[in-house]
Amino acid sequence: MLDFAIHQTTHPAARPWRGFRSHFEDNAQRPYPALPPPAAPTIGAASLAAILARFQLGEAGEGRIAHEIDRVAVCGVDADYRVALKLFVKEEGRHARILGAMVKSLGGKILQAKASNHLFRHARRFLGVRFKVSVLLVAEVVGGVLYDVLEKSLQEPSARAALRQIAGDERAHLAFHAAFLAAQPGRWRVPLRLGFWLVGMAASAVVITENFRDLLRLGFPPHAITVRLLRGLRAADRRTFGETAADLIDNRENLAGELS
Ligand SMILES: [Fe+2]
Ligand SMILES: [Fe+2]
Repeated sequence: MLDFAIHQTTHPAARPWRGFRSHFEDNAQRPYPALPPPAAPTIGAASLAAILARFQLGEAGEGRIAHEIDRVAVCGVDADYRVALKLFVKEEGRHARILGAMVKSLGGKILQAKASNHLFRHARRFLGVRFKVSVLLVAEVVGGVLYDVLEKSLQEPSARAALRQIAGDERAHLAFHAAFLAAQPGRWRVPLRLGFWLVGMAASAVVITENFRDLLRLGFPPHAITVRLLRGLRAADRRTFGETAADLIDNRENLAGELS
């Protein structure tokens, strides 16, 4: 399905983002999943809807970087990357629409604003493109972990498949942002890595706090989710900020293998 490794390792200088661009172009052709009509609310459905509604807000808030990317000259940014980034933003908007439909189908309500949403939005607003991407990397880790966990608590097969698809998209987003950050000059590694961990720890704390009761009601111990978040952050950190060039190439091959 994806050929990131071929384009990025055998032809690193020639259109390195072509694989990601093709991936997002293919994804953009997918139809929206048909979700079931709203059912009678249950305690589990209410908690699930509440968590998904909080994540739905975050999915809708990525638009600014799609405009900025046309104006910046940053290492690794070419025409393919710009197209891929804009398609990535659209894909997050698609997630927002699907999650919104899922929340309604579970009998829940769409939210206006939440602390974690403010955190991500404010963190991004004052940052340059590189740091914005490192914040996005955190969002992919957090979203990927939570969607993977929550998918198990969805009863309805089409909703379950839709959330599984979104979780898969987040893994590809993670690979996309990790590859961009890994391509930055060495002097950026420490500040970007520091920013990633600061935002990652803060975001994990806020997400666990906001969703604590609902996770418990669904039978997911918050401390176990915290451990998964920290493991996800550590894995993303290793992939993105590997110590040697060989590590980075291996990382990209691993990511491509994981997504194919
Ligand atoms: Fe998303
Ligand atoms: Fe994402």
